[in-house]
Amino acid sequence: MDDKLIIFDTTLRDGEQSPGASMTRDEKLRIAKALEKMKVDVIEAGFPIASPGDFESVKAVAEMVTDSTVCALARALDKDIDRAAEALKPAKSSRIHTFLATSPIHMREKLRMTPDEVVENAVKAVKHARNYTDNVEFSPEDAGRSDFDFLCRVLEAVIDAGATTVNIPDTVGYNLPQFFGELIGNLINNIPNSDKAIFSVHCHNDLGLAVGNSLSAVLNGARQVECTINGLGERAGNAALEEVVMSIRTRRDIFTCDTKLDTTQIVHCSRLVSTITGFPVQPNKAIVGANAFAHESGIHQDGVLKSRETYEIMRAEDVGWNTNRMVLGKHSGRNAFKTRLEELGIRFDKEEDLNAAFSAFKELADKKHEVFDDDLQALVSDTIQESANEKIKLVSLKAKVETGETPIAEITLSIDGSEKHAAAEGGGPVDATFKAIESMVNSGCNLQLYSVNNITTGTDSQGEVTVRIDKSGRIVNGLGSDTDIVIASAKAYIDALNKALAPEQRAHPQRL
Ligand code: KIV
Ligand code: ZN
Repeated sequence: MDDKLIIFDTTLRDGEQSPGASMTRDEKLRIAKALEKMKVDVIEAGFPIASPGDFESVKAVAEMVTDSTVCALARALDKDIDRAAEALKPAKSSRIHTFLATSPIHMREKLRMTPDEVVENAVKAVKHARNYTDNVEFSPEDAGRSDFDFLCRVLEAVIDAGATTVNIPDTVGYNLPQFFGELIGNLINNIPNSDKAIFSVHCHNDLGLAVGNSLSAVLNGARQVECTINGLGERAGNAALEEVVMSIRTRRDIFTCDTKLDTTQIVHCSRLVSTITGFPVQPNKAIVGANAFAHESGIHQDGVLKSRETYEIMRAEDVGWNTNRMVLGKHSGRNAFKTRLEELGIRFDKEEDLNAAFSAFKELADKKHEVFDDDLQALVSDTIQESANEKIKLVSLKAKVETGETPIAEITLSIDGSEKHAAAEGGGPVDATFKAIESMVNSGCNLQLYSVNNITTGTDSQGEVTVRIDKSGRIVNGLGSDTDIVIASAKAYIDALNKALAPEQRAHPQRL
């Protein structure tokens, strides 16, 4: 190994830009804790100027994380950089990431700046950020469609101004691996001061090439990859962390660098992000999909039994499969429950929330007997939702299905503190439940997605339901889990409604 590859995780920032993937401060803290445990080098925690909530989340991550560098995003504007620096103040190690677009179309249509103005503003932003920290990253947004000579000019200038990392984003996922790799190699070879900065890449997946492009960049000298858990991110997403890291680990014969990641944490991080955002992981997804290590055909099974290397290039346990331990059962006490949650990075600020989670656990253990880590994650998400000061809460639900009869659901909700009751018929119990809820809430939302997954195996497993709704163009995801999937569905729909009906005043970094 000649050197180290820096893993920069942007699940909490670019990942959160996926429509419907917004996360609360506490959810971000849980993910940040898991990323830190996995030994991610840099955690991009958010875009502090976007909203007071984003500012508070970055600050909370900066206060909690000690082993990873915490990074905040800022446009190339003093006010953004000041806000980022303020949020990062408590961090043990911090980085300011500032960006400005360099492609002809972005400069002309979006920024309405001349190339000279772009260079001037980029340099000014980096110098301003350097007043706060000596760890400054600059990204020429839409670098993948920028003019090569102009890119060299901007990057040389920002490195001179003090940027310690220069990140080359393929913002719109337009590039192809061979050429993107060559671009990185040519930048490193042509920029006179390129040895003064780490070259990084940030690839979007619009053509399904984000990981391929990132790896090609690494082969050509990039030493930081920006990526997200499960490939979450704007539009088709970013390069998937797990795929980048495992490609490099598995093909040590090709790559001359490696990461310091504890890969056994990968599946846990993937589940956590999926549970929190409500974005399910497709079964055939590399590394973290349910089928990633499942051998269906007889020939494959036979081969694997004789020698696993016949069909397996990685070991399931190396990425954290099979570590979903049966941790607790109905006789487990509050202390064991609390300790296991803490091992999973979950801490409740309020005693009453812990008590509520413990009661929910006892109820679950009665129904299910064996409670796994993934059950605990889902249960905690549900408890946090229920205890939050939400507009709509589920009080009770009764659904009736009988062969030959129309399914009917009766439901009681608490809306703004007062109880309302409704009944409705539907094509099935879930349809009837949603119709009954809608008859009380009148949200005017359109249902875009409804999906059910089992959290663990077996018919007593909890069902985890994801609901995506659209309210006047604003898309939100809701999540609910229960051993009864009709109740899980009602919880998911109510969670989505609470998000859709809450006021939102967040700015999007790249649409301002
Ligand atoms: O995709 C992009 O260009 C970004 C930048 C802010 C790095 O997310
Ligand atoms: Zn991006």
